[in-house]
Amino acid sequence: MSSPKGLEGIVAAETRISHVDGQAGELIIGGYALEEIAGHASYDEVAFVLWNVAIGKGPAFPSGEELTGLERELSNLRAIPDAVLTVLRAARNAPPMDALRMAASILSLDDPDIEDESLAANLRRAKVMSARIPSVIAAHDRIRRGLEPVSPHPGLGRAANFLYMLNGREPSAESARAIDTYWTTVIDHGMNASTFAARVIASTQSDMYSAVTGAIGALKGPLHGGAPGPVLDMLLEIRAVDRAESWIRNELASGGRIMGFGHRVYKVRDPRADVLSRTAKQLADSGCGDTRLYDLATGVESVVLRVLEEVKPGRHLKTNVEFYTALVLQSVGLKPDQFSSVFAAGRIAGWTAHILEQLANNRLIRPASEYTGPRGLKYIP
Ligand code: COA
Repeated sequence: MSSPKGLEGIVAAETRISHVDGQAGELIIGGYALEEIAGHASYDEVAFVLWNVAIGKGPAFPSGEELTGLERELSNLRAIPDAVLTVLRAARNAPPMDALRMAASILSLDDPDIEDESLAANLRRAKVMSARIPSVIAAHDRIRRGLEPVSPHPGLGRAANFLYMLNGREPSAESARAIDTYWTTVIDHGMNASTFAARVIASTQSDMYSAVTGAIGALKGPLHGGAPGPVLDMLLEIRAVDRAESWIRNELASGGRIMGFGHRVYKVRDPRADVLSRTAKQLADSGCGDTRLYDLATGVESVVLRVLEEVKPGRHLKTNVEFYTALVLQSVGLKPDQFSSVFAAGRIAGWTAHILEQLANNRLIRPASEYTGPRGLKYIP
């Protein structure tokens, strides 16, 4: 018997890392509701929880001492090896996601012992990848702008350091907080395509670098991580709320989809959209963001929801995570073609936690297929 197309609804793994309830609009991260942690706990704290949960420990947040130790360890791992910089220079004209995929695969070059598959070695790799991916994105961006990469700043936290390595100057507290909240909000999300890809690769007892590189490849596809750029394009094209209705109706009439709306799992508003709309508003109010763009987005959102309800009744198409992601990332100065790679920098703790969890209780993931081709054909030389 064949499975549903796209494996929709099929349970592919047991996990304690996260859970998405699309009917209730609930996202649980390591046992905590998203609202409980996003904007309150730092990304590094949540990463600590997920890595611990993955290896069978409890979901407790780190003590002050443990957190300081983890932050110091991650900070010491941020610098990227020269070989990676050489690749990033060669990839100067490549899109940011392609450059990130190439760089991720060679982060293994300075691994002290790639044959070591112990838990301690894999935990260290999880930390290395999570510390270096933001550095890779920042270095590639500077190289493509004709600038020299900037070394990490040991005194800054994860998000502030990323913006520092991107712009060469310390960011405002609001911008750093917004990126940290964004990364925490997208840290994990059930059995999405890139996480599944990472678990499949890990299940063959390949290495963590390969599994993360595969996950980045899966995230690159527009059906997974590519919508926030087009959301921004749409808002810039609409320009004013009173032009929204005709723009949206035209788009739908010509068979187009409204970016930032609809979801395979959520049939109510994506809880991540709630967190990120608040973050976008805080940025706008603090003067970092663009108040006009924020007002335009909220106005456009209500028109889209009304028109979708009328034109696509019963499909439950609500605002998804990408709509306000676009505003948050644009407000801190990122460009639309960087949005997917910055998403990857947030998902890295989730991916590596899933890899650790898969390895802790591994069985090769090897589904069956239903053969629909002919049999018995003859070879004619
Ligand atoms: N705008 C307009 N119509 C949409 C829509 C959107 N954003 N999303 C879904 N629909 C419609 C489809 O056209 C379809 O209509 P039909 O029944 O008349 O054919 C119906 O809703 C169901 O769509 P389907 O493609 O089966 O849903 P899915 O679960 O495969 O799609 C997405 C999920 C996310 C791919 C889809 O909602 C989408 O393309 N959204 C826009 C892109 C986006 O924001 N992606 C980021 C997701 S986090």
